[in-house]
Amino acid sequence: MNRISIAELLVSDNYLHEVTVKGWVRTFRSNRFIALNDGSTIKNIQCVIDFEKTDPSIIKRITTGAALSITGLLAESVGAGQSVEIQVSKIEVLGDSNPEKYPIQPKKHSFEFLREQAHLRIRTNTFSAVMRLRSALSFAIHDYFTKNGFYNVHTPIITGSDAEGAGEMFRVSTLNPMNPPKNEAGEIDFTQDFFGKETNLTVSGQLEAETYAMALGKVYTFGPTFRAENSNTSRHLAEFWMIEPEVAFNNLDANMDLAEDFIKSVLKYILENCKDDLDFLNQRFLDEEKTKPANQRSEMSLLEKLNFVIENNFKRVSYTEAIEILKNSKPNKKKKFQYLITEWGADLQSEHERFLVETHFKCPVILFDYPAKIKAFYMRLNEDGKTVRAMDVLFPGIGEIVGGSQREERLDVLLEKIKTFEIDEKELWWYLDTRRFGTAIHSGFGLGFERLVQFATGMGNIRDVIPFPRTPQNAEF
Ligand code: 4AD
Ligand code: MG
Repeated sequence: MNRISIAELLVSDNYLHEVTVKGWVRTFRSNRFIALNDGSTIKNIQCVIDFEKTDPSIIKRITTGAALSITGLLAESVGAGQSVEIQVSKIEVLGDSNPEKYPIQPKKHSFEFLREQAHLRIRTNTFSAVMRLRSALSFAIHDYFTKNGFYNVHTPIITGSDAEGAGEMFRVSTLNPMNPPKNEAGEIDFTQDFFGKETNLTVSGQLEAETYAMALGKVYTFGPTFRAENSNTSRHLAEFWMIEPEVAFNNLDANMDLAEDFIKSVLKYILENCKDDLDFLNQRFLDEEKTKPANQRSEMSLLEKLNFVIENNFKRVSYTEAIEILKNSKPNKKKKFQYLITEWGADLQSEHERFLVETHFKCPVILFDYPAKIKAFYMRLNEDGKTVRAMDVLFPGIGEIVGGSQREERLDVLLEKIKTFEIDEKELWWYLDTRRFGTAIHSGFGLGFERLVQFATGMGNIRDVIPFPRTPQNAEF
């Protein structure tokens, strides 16, 4: 008999029919009630066995984590907590799980402990809900861009360029570290790394995506990106996934419209399609908030936060206005933050961003027109000669979720910028060609996928929204 998934079974009309399910034991109570989960839904199916009629050697093997195949009649359940159950007629242990050794016990484990068990943590309710939502968001993103006429471009992972110019790259090398080739001065010759030049893992697919936008019009990338920054925070990973749309003929306003519409649309998708997982995570979020001191608790539930973002306009504020607001704001003792007063030209720290989003505007904020000096070389210079057409989308509880800009399309201005930033012009010959042949204004942005998943699931630490987090401590799996 073919197996049916628990998700399908719960919405099917198989009532009083015989069904077969396969999954892993979550709990086994009173030698009778098995809670079985197969990953298709947060819900378990209760399978009731007849103790008298079941072989005791089989009963002994029904332990948390074991894989079972169960056949039986789907019937109405009299017990609380579920509407249907399977009255087991046949049970087969597909894979045993030694209860003395299985790390995932039916109790609450700390996330720190579960991070050490990244290969098994997916068998818990929280992680299965988070990863199903991650998958749904990924689908919603491709769906949004496809429906809006964008082409998906696969930009390279190994590259010679440093798109952000921040020097946070992981080297990729084919050199033998024990016996590297040396140049005449006796130094290691990195130009022999790969393809005859220095190469690294990409920090962003933007520059390559720009060249595609200048031919296909509307494109986006969705791939892994790497940053060798030693940031031990709950918002940074060394390997993360980024979505980068790039659109020819869009100015910064159109870019902001796209970012806002895109984020709202994918969040709407999960609210409409992932109800069970979101309800579960909403409850988890509320329980977690209750453990915090009253003045640090979120004023909204997870579901309220998601709906709020969808229903309200993001506030658009220039960097200069934001600095004025910060200068005129007093440290907020109640929330126990010490806000630093910031001068025009300084980069905003995360506490400034949090203040603007969570205390001052109380909604997502798009900051634009940043000082040229603190942003990457490719952003379009404004008439004032000192600010660029940059935008950052800031989210409550997350901080920066999107970074983007209108790109500098004027060859002479771009060349000047490249000189100021001390970038080797020759390295970017291919990028500059887009400005040499048929240049046009264009814009794009990068959304950090894990930060979006964090917001959508209410998870506090970015390491808990990616299957196998790569952080300075954790690259074992
Ligand atoms: O602001 P960033 O560095 O922008 C770029 O890379 C541009 N080239 C994007 C573009 O215009 N096409 O990164 C974009 C986003 C950030 O807003 C953040 O959400 C995420 O990527 N991000 C990280 N996420 C997790 N861990 C890290 N270490 C991250 N660094 C950036
Ligand atoms: Mg940024």
